[in-house]
Amino acid sequence: NNHTYCSMVIFGATGDLAKRKLFPSIYNLYKKGTLDKNFAVVGVARREWSDEVFRENVTASLQDSNISIEGDLTEFLSHFRYLAFDVTNAASYQDLHELLNSLEQEFSIPGNRMFYMAMAPEFFGTIASYLKSEGVTNEQGWNRLIIEKPFGHDFASAQKLNEDLRQAFAEDEIYRIDHYLGKEMVQNIGVIRFANAIFESLWNNRHISNIQITSSESLGVEDRGGYYDTSGALRDMVQNHMIQMVALLAMEPPIRLTTEEIRSEKIKALRALRPMTKDEVKQYFVRSQYGPGSMNGKEVPGYRSEPKVNPESRTETFVAGKLMIDNFRWAGVPIYIRTGKRMQEKSTKIVVEFKELPMNLYSKSENNVHPNLLIIHIQPDEGISLILNGKKIGMTDKTTPAKLDYCNHCIDGINTPEAYEKLLNDAIHGDATNFTHWDEVALSWKFVDVISEAWKEDTSSEFELYPAGSMGPKAADELLAQDGFHWWPIG
Ligand code: BG6
Repeated sequence: NNHTYCSMVIFGATGDLAKRKLFPSIYNLYKKGTLDKNFAVVGVARREWSDEVFRENVTASLQDSNISIEGDLTEFLSHFRYLAFDVTNAASYQDLHELLNSLEQEFSIPGNRMFYMAMAPEFFGTIASYLKSEGVTNEQGWNRLIIEKPFGHDFASAQKLNEDLRQAFAEDEIYRIDHYLGKEMVQNIGVIRFANAIFESLWNNRHISNIQITSSESLGVEDRGGYYDTSGALRDMVQNHMIQMVALLAMEPPIRLTTEEIRSEKIKALRALRPMTKDEVKQYFVRSQYGPGSMNGKEVPGYRSEPKVNPESRTETFVAGKLMIDNFRWAGVPIYIRTGKRMQEKSTKIVVEFKELPMNLYSKSENNVHPNLLIIHIQPDEGISLILNGKKIGMTDKTTPAKLDYCNHCIDGINTPEAYEKLLNDAIHGDATNFTHWDEVALSWKFVDVISEAWKEDTSSEFELYPAGSMGPKAADELLAQDGFHWWPIG
């Protein structure tokens, strides 16, 4: 099984992502035996840390996370080394190369090397080309590059980044992270669709009236104002996470559950996304920004008063949109998405609304027949609900909605692994299914670029703010109302 024996080099090892996500995930994989004796972790960053200081930080990160630490950490930590690093200096890469050689000896690792980019994206290209030119990738085993978002800022910059990476790594060596693809219930979309006769046979425009995907956050921009103000919700959430969920919901059944087949169906679905002209963007997309408001009874400031945010910023912290997939299966079915910061609650949910029966005997107004809904709860609760109609109990022929719930964490002893743990595990095993292929990234940037250009050019129109703690601006409700729909409550 030594194809999973590897060294992991983490660029940006002193940063937030390493601390909050990567070290706890590595520890969980260690506890489960995926990583056993034959692995090494090299933390790389600018700071002059010793191995000891690095290990103390790893320990602190485990203690601060909510994972359970079993026994003594000494053996685990003995696999961790630190290297003070200058990403623009060839000598640093030579040091890294030597260190990896010696760790591979020490832990009997057959030259497999994973390079994890968990730092400022401007250096991704530089690092990749040095890794190649200094021979760090030149070993016997496999080389894999794991790369965090943002993957570019628009199509042109993403393409440039991709070309830089491709100088040193082949497409099948590049693992582009979209951590939503590591979430348990996002991975469940395929199972719900393709392992259940009752859903797949209805999964089309004859039976589905619309789909709604909401990913709301209650936090504001926190200390990320500097990054976020140049990004906005469209680039931060829509280009990646939201469009990935759309692709999984809309794709055709793959002929096999392999990386290539699944990706190629997702790509086909994205190719069918109806393109917009800049003039049409207004009809399909709504942007907004949070103003002051109250969250759980506490007053919170508006976006423009957040640290490191331009006080006149027109960056959107909320996006709602209507996507049309112009193919046989989906013609005429809107897929609505919405996402934002400082909304009422933290929640990601998908609601699939089914069409009414051709002749509904019970749909007289007093009966109030409810449309059938399939709700996929991504987070914080994980599970599915189905809304059906039942008969109201008693001497009446009235109907009442009945809700069937399946809840993942209601099952005793089930503790779903974090997205990052699953993705790291996949990368160690060489499974790229839950990472985004370049073609997916390219198509989603092209789709999103039209929207950002239209918004950038439109400097005159009023910006309708939404109060912090709400579900967004009225315009987001009107987007559905004009089609005769409304957002289903997410609570
Ligand atoms: C990240 C965004 O990709 O996703 C953040 O950069 C956002 O702004 C986060 O908060 C949301 O992820 P999750 O897993 O908390 O829904």
